[in-house]
Amino acid sequence: MIEVLSIASEVYPLVKTGGLADVAGALPKALAPLGVAMRTLLPGYPVVMSKLSDRTAVASFADLFGGAARLLAARVEGLDLLVIDAPHLYDRPGGPYAGPDGADWPDNWQRFAALSFVAYEIGRGLLPDYRPQILHAHDWQAGLVPAYVAFNAPTRVKTIQTVHNLAFQGRFGWEVFPELRLDYRAADEGAIEFYGGISFLKAGLQCADALTTVSPTYAQEIRTEAYGMGLQGLLQSRADVLHGITNGIDVHEWNPGDDAALPDHYSATTTMLRAGNKQAVAHEFGLDGTDGPLFAVVSRLTWQKGMDMLAHCIDDLVSRGGRLAVLGSGEIALENGFKAAAIRHPGKVGIVTKYDERLSHLVQGGADVMVIPSRFEPCGLTQLYGLRYGCVPLVSRVGGLADTVIDANEAAVEAGVATGIVFAPATQEALGEAIRRTFALYGREKVWRKMQRRGMKSDVSWEASAEKYADLYSNLIGQKRDDDQDD
Ligand code: ADP
Ligand code: GLC
Repeated sequence: MIEVLSIASEVYPLVKTGGLADVAGALPKALAPLGVAMRTLLPGYPVVMSKLSDRTAVASFADLFGGAARLLAARVEGLDLLVIDAPHLYDRPGGPYAGPDGADWPDNWQRFAALSFVAYEIGRGLLPDYRPQILHAHDWQAGLVPAYVAFNAPTRVKTIQTVHNLAFQGRFGWEVFPELRLDYRAADEGAIEFYGGISFLKAGLQCADALTTVSPTYAQEIRTEAYGMGLQGLLQSRADVLHGITNGIDVHEWNPGDDAALPDHYSATTTMLRAGNKQAVAHEFGLDGTDGPLFAVVSRLTWQKGMDMLAHCIDDLVSRGGRLAVLGSGEIALENGFKAAAIRHPGKVGIVTKYDERLSHLVQGGADVMVIPSRFEPCGLTQLYGLRYGCVPLVSRVGGLADTVIDANEAAVEAGVATGIVFAPATQEALGEAIRRTFALYGREKVWRKMQRRGMKSDVSWEASAEKYADLYSNLIGQKRDDDQDD
């Protein structure tokens, strides 16, 4: 067995704000058959604590960044968890990163330094009966893990830093450095300095033994000025240890054949059964029941996701006989833009701004088109759910979207390999053109059904990608995987 501790600030089904949670929740299960035992360390936010029915305290800290704390071990829905119970850091209302007013917690540097510090302590033997060989850190919230390992008391544990989104860098002022419990050499050697302040993500990228990101195209893009967000130089210099491994999805959690959120279940050969689900989606979003393609969004409403571009295409989309269901929240101006469109086009455009896991499944199971016009997209999961559910993805050609959707150009349609509509560049004009192309394809019923079927048959499971992580772990520690056959 290879023992890996995954460190993440959100993990489905305990706490989720986006794709990171899905990945952190699915990966341990995908790795288990491959000879990798993955435990997961996460903060004890109230929603997490409330789900730990059977828990055991396995360690305690007299002072973890300003207060007493305990480390709890628990199993929840097949996940082997270590949870930091530190009320002074995590026991408060709101989300994992921000308060109820939407503003980031001012002590986030402490809250996530604590997460990383505990991981480091576990890596160097805090627990008598558990010593991981690898600490696998996700995003900036765990970015200090590799730095503690590199600069504090030496330990043999290996580290991996995974980037799910380079836009979130964990940047704080220098004044917090002395409080981080990180050896001063990290400052001297420039491992944490970033444009005059500090960046937790930069520290992880500089210090980890291996780096991964969530698709091969994004792994290339982030080495360029256009997508590198100031870190391209560092990423170029570490290109030899940077791997792009495409996310999968939990195909049991996301299965149109038995999804409890869907009134009607179906498979690749019975996509016409989606009609009842389409009606249910229309009902939930206040749309009327006319024909024509039902476009949908399930997303954070942000600039990254290109939602401003989509908002500008709505009038054209509706004039062509389309309808739009938007499930998402985020920037107030964008929410208001979609709300205004819903008022302008009653029965044609509907928006639900809550976070609703069930509704997100229903939309995938009933809408015709999943629209994802991202300006950048490290991987993206909603196009994978779309493929699995026959909700044809319409995506910009960036990052993981480019790696997972095959455009329905005539050659691909002819060859029967198309799985969606892909456009470039990520501009409003190109999106408008792609929407018009979607109407044309939707009008060719046989072509459309074939594209749905083809998408539903594409492999979006974790299987292939989990193998890649398992190989990476095994190479990093020079230990063969138990499940490897001698041949
Ligand atoms: P990101 O992590 O950048 O937000 P991803 O596509 O990787 O993008 O993951 C988004 C995840 O969040 C998906 O599981 C998607 O279904 C979910 N999601 C986004 N908005 C909502 C919402 N309003 N309600 C329910 N699920 C949502
Ligand atoms: C980030 C990215 C998204 C990716 C997810 C999981 O939130 O924005 O593209 O799918 O992480 O890796």
